[in-house]
Amino acid sequence: MQTNIEGKVALVTGSNRGIGRALVEALLERGATKVYATARNKDSLQELVENYGDRIVPLTLDVTKAEEVNATAQTAGDVQVVISNAGFAENIDIFIEDLSVARQEMEVNYWGTLNVARAFVPVLESNGGGAIINISSIAGLVNFPMFPTYSDSKAAVHSLTQGIRLIKGGSVQVVGVYPGPVDTDMAADLEMDKATPQSVAVSILNAVEAGKDEVFPDPVAEGFSGPYEAGTKTLEKQTAEMLAASS
Ligand SMILES: NC(=O)c1ccc[n+]([C@@H]2O[C@H](COP(=O)([O-])OP(=O)(O)OC[C@H]3O[C@@H](n4cnc5c(N)ncnc54)[C@H](OP(=O)(O)O)[C@@H]3O)[C@@H](O)[C@H]2O)c1
Repeated sequence: MQTNIEGKVALVTGSNRGIGRALVEALLERGATKVYATARNKDSLQELVENYGDRIVPLTLDVTKAEEVNATAQTAGDVQVVISNAGFAENIDIFIEDLSVARQEMEVNYWGTLNVARAFVPVLESNGGGAIINISSIAGLVNFPMFPTYSDSKAAVHSLTQGIRLIKGGSVQVVGVYPGPVDTDMAADLEMDKATPQSVAVSILNAVEAGKDEVFPDPVAEGFSGPYEAGTKTLEKQTAEMLAASS
């Protein structure tokens, strides 16, 4: 299944900054007629509205609040492409620190993505198909020990995406995205080569239009796709080598 962006109505979660904002811009540049740009704080979407006018519909949305997600699905009842981009990550020592960060990572990354899928997949189906795109991470395929619980939450997103595809893949394009390091606030402390959010957004939309189910949208992620297909142990070995080389 593939989805052309031109002429479509789209929605992006966490679209006020980082990859989400770049996705909104890339969708509009590719001919989406309208994008519901959602964020916890609607005021943070002001610049997008100033730049793109009424092709942007700004909406308040905290993905951890299921009722708010359901209400947004009613408001955005004409949507055909949904991108679950909102995410949260912190670097914690799981053997020392309080685990409230880990719970919040699960709340936003796993439960938020599930809330959005439950609310929006029926809307996509009633609009004739379209695509749901979940942003996982290469850290969802193999654990990165500087973000151990974030990795857990992104593994849950990976599994959830497979599940949605198995259940709904006959009627909706279900895409999992596995970025490597991207130059956003989330990766500000990572000292390694990072892709730009703009290049990642373009790769994601190219893959959606090409009918791909899984997207490795930057050079580091591309280096993972071969080991990913070869199996988890291969991936663990490659990751250990990469971390040893960068420390
Ligand atoms: N950067 C990377 O290296 C990298 C690599 C792999 C995957 N990813 C994934 O890519 C996605 C985008 O990340 P990014 O790098 O662009 O990070 P970012 O710059 O930190 O942006 C995160 C976005 O998520 C939003 N958000 C957080 N909690 C939310 C909630 N409860 N409800 C709605 N929105 C919420 C933030 O909104 P506020 O402004 O309100 O906080 C912000 O818009 C995430 O899923 C992330 O895990 C990133």
